Amino acid sequence: MPQDVFARPLKDLRISVTDRCNFRCTYCMPFDEYPWIPNNELLRYDEVGRLARLLVGLGVDEIRLTGGEPLIRPHLEDLIRRLSSIPGMDDLSLTTNGSLLAEKVASLRAAGLQRVNVSLDTLNPEKFRQIRRRGDLAKVLDGLFAAKDHGLHPIKLNAVIQRGVNDDDIVPLVEFARQHGFTIRFIEFMDVGNANGWVLDRVVSKREILDGINRVHPLREIGRNGGRAPAVDYEFVDGAGQVGVIASVTEPFCASCTRLRLTADGKLVTCLFAGQGHDLKTPLRRGDSDDELVSRVAAIWGGRHDRYSEERLAALRSPTGYDAAGRHKIEMITLGG
Ligand code: GTP
Ligand code: 5AD
Ligand code: SF4
Ligand code: SF4
Repeated sequence: MPQDVFARPLKDLRISVTDRCNFRCTYCMPFDEYPWIPNNELLRYDEVGRLARLLVGLGVDEIRLTGGEPLIRPHLEDLIRRLSSIPGMDDLSLTTNGSLLAEKVASLRAAGLQRVNVSLDTLNPEKFRQIRRRGDLAKVLDGLFAAKDHGLHPIKLNAVIQRGVNDDDIVPLVEFARQHGFTIRFIEFMDVGNANGWVLDRVVSKREILDGINRVHPLREIGRNGGRAPAVDYEFVDGAGQVGVIASVTEPFCASCTRLRLTADGKLVTCLFAGQGHDLKTPLRRGDSDDELVSRVAAIWGGRHDRYSEERLAALRSPTGYDAAGRHKIEMITLGG
């Protein structure tokens, strides 16, 4: 099994199936229009399935589908069926904005989807519009409850917290999650992409988030799932569920990062903050054998030395500070988080 330069194994694959999205969240996709990947450049599901099978052979045991918004891609259940039949996989999940979940969850579940993570930054409909700039909260909530009715478990809510925007939503979101049996995760606002206007002052730290929750519902730390998850998990002392915090800015977790990303047009990307990917579609379409593709991926992983969030923290603490615009990055909407 390949290890990267820092001896990190390859374990998790995040597959983006489209860069398109029906929302325009201020923290992710501040543009109205974008040079979208043309449809004929997208990997077909048989191609994605083949690459996923080869990657599972290299050690991947968890696959997550992302976007843009993955449920925009037609017939996603066909891909889920292919992926769920790969032997050696422990977990097949989806990260979605929830807007199309109510209408699609039955077929996704039937095809083999195990669980979903749904973005939910606020329970206030007006603030939802302000942050997400399209769509509406009621449809997302319908999607969440439909997923629950169809037995998906756990259902995790992802809330990106920005100071002065939705830091006052933390406790209401905790109450909502506890009441309905969802797991809520709070995510420190990150400088993903090149245009979300990130400044450190807008980051609400993990410490602040936990202090705010602890005042109302005391928590006990559990740790990172499998030792390698981005979130540190906590349980409520009263037994009413769990909370996670994803603290890429104040407590980076690059040392245990086992994640590889595949973009919708077939590029492998070894870090969320990478400037470019490695083209796999060309070798795939010119007819490279499985062995050739596996060697290519193993070489890419073997040369990986990404630790962007650790470097950012070191820069933030240095006298010169950190320049968020200093490095061109692939947009979040292309990478799927
Ligand atoms: P679980 O398997 O349910 O724990 O999912 P996850 O947290 O790995 O995935 P999800 O798509 O829900 O992502 C939640 C947040 O974590 C998003 O903001 C992602 O961008 C962020 N995230 C996921 N992986 C990484 C990573 O490797 N580095 C950084 N910095 N952030 C990540
Ligand atoms: N900082 C933190 N998380 C982000 N996401 C999107 N943009 C950002 C950002 N700037 C999250 C979304 C979604 C996941 C895929 O990534 O909320 O849950
Ligand atoms: Fe928002 Fe997700 Fe769409 Fe980005 S991909 S604009 S975070 S819904
Ligand atoms: Fe992994 Fe890059 Fe995130 Fe660090 S910043 S945890 S290397 S994806």
